[in-house]
Amino acid sequence: MAIKLSIKKICCIGAGYVGGPTMAVISDHCPDIDVTLVDKDKKKIDAWNSKDLSKLPIFEPGLKEVVRRNRGKNLFFSYEINKSIREADMIFISVNTPTKIKGLGAGYASDLKWVESSARLVAEHSEGHTIVVEKSTVPVRTAELIQEILGSSNKKSNIRMNKSFSVISSPEFLAEGTAIKDLENPDRVLIGGSDRVSVNLLKEIYSRWICDEKILVTNVWSSELSKLIANAFLAQRVSSINSISALCESTGANIHEVVRAIGSDQRIGRKFLAPGPGFGGSCFKKDILNLVYLCRFYKLEEIANYWEQVLLINEWQKNRISSLIIQKFFGTVVNKKILVLGFAFKSNTNDTRESPAITVTRELMENGAHLLINDPKVEREQIESELNIKEFAVDQLTTGSWNFVSDLENLSTNLDAIIILTEWSEYMDINWKKLSSKMRKPAWIFDTRNIIPNEIINELDINYWQVGITK
Ligand code: NAD
Ligand code: UGA
Repeated sequence: MAIKLSIKKICCIGAGYVGGPTMAVISDHCPDIDVTLVDKDKKKIDAWNSKDLSKLPIFEPGLKEVVRRNRGKNLFFSYEINKSIREADMIFISVNTPTKIKGLGAGYASDLKWVESSARLVAEHSEGHTIVVEKSTVPVRTAELIQEILGSSNKKSNIRMNKSFSVISSPEFLAEGTAIKDLENPDRVLIGGSDRVSVNLLKEIYSRWICDEKILVTNVWSSELSKLIANAFLAQRVSSINSISALCESTGANIHEVVRAIGSDQRIGRKFLAPGPGFGGSCFKKDILNLVYLCRFYKLEEIANYWEQVLLINEWQKNRISSLIIQKFFGTVVNKKILVLGFAFKSNTNDTRESPAITVTRELMENGAHLLINDPKVEREQIESELNIKEFAVDQLTTGSWNFVSDLENLSTNLDAIIILTEWSEYMDINWKKLSSKMRKPAWIFDTRNIIPNEIINELDINYWQVGITK
């Protein structure tokens, strides 16, 4: 089979939060390579092609500039999946790998049906020698499954049609909200594979802008496993600091002072120790569940239990925040008007998957509260779909309601509470004195991200709760 000497055309299956920014940045650095993103979701492809760059399907700082520079030159978004696969020398599989909701392993294992269907499309439509890059986060040994599908789809016809494949792993470590920055200047790029030629061709692409020392080459299983472990370690830090935030509140210690004290130890470091309402996002939970499933599969029960605890603490933190809000109102929030600031799982993204805001707002509505929800980048329809509760659905006897507010300047008076759930910089600029003066007393601000400076809080005639700090 013809061995590739260079890559001229890339196809990426999956134009989501990873595929989109990753391919945009590759196209930016490789003007000699045509990069085409395909997706089964036609609306998403239309949005990627929209003239108005504020309508791209995902919001990421710096993304629209990279798209503007390259779209139509060597960056394309297309519905023609089969054609793009046929023409490509290298295919990235960047599809979603959520937790299975039914069948064997439901609730823990990754659902690989989209990875599998992508591999089947590649098996059917590719021509010549194709390098398949596993970009999605997957359980260890998924490359074997992909290789098997590619190889056995029709062995005889593969030989007749001169088809061959090489599967390598290159998991993505970008974080939402900083995706472009992370792709431009990653801590490392990881490539796992035994086929040196394919590994080197991918390495050659990344080395256009990333130095050799940062491009790590491992065997394929280490690469797949390292991605899960990196997320597990990051999530573990968040759960650790959130657990200590509760201890600080009980003892009078201050979480920021504790973080400074422990983080000054270079072995611990200060990063990823911000207390909050619990981690969200599409990956930490599903990747740890997947890790737990793998441990149980290999009969490592104690290890599975150890990592599962990271998730249990996260659930506990989200529930503890909604409960304490209710308790501060003497056990009832029925008919309380509460402004919720932020619905995205973190700032600088419009992503709401697994956002702690979902748990906290649902719990408050179940307890009868009326919520005014604001987010600078999340649309009301997305909130409605996450909550599965229609906007304005008011049933005063049993449940509360919610509605979206975009204008924070002209809010109605008589708010009973404000809850800050996402650390958007817009919220740091709020005139807290003015806003709090309009509230119905006794009023509360619950700051789960600790964004309001102490000097401002001290001037407010209001009850204030911050995570990890006793007032
Ligand atoms: P996403 O849901 O935003 O995008 C996946 C896309 O794949 C969807 O648009 C879907 O329509 C498309 N798709 C699925 N099956 C397809 C098929 N057979 N043909 C064509 N298109 C298909 O998901 P994402 O957030 O981009 O994550 C993708 C993978 O990357 C996951 O495995 C995730 O764990 C991993 N990851 C995500 C992030 C992140 O920040 N979101 C970071 C690192 C790694
Ligand atoms: C995370 C990892 O950081 C990426 O390296 C990884 O590629 C990605 O998951 C993935 O595999 O999907 P992401 O989920 O986009 O990225 O965002 P993070 O910045 O990691 O934040 C995750 C959650 O933890 C957010 O809800 C955030 O608010 C919370 N968090 C983070 C804290 O509460 N405290 C912190 O100190 C850091």
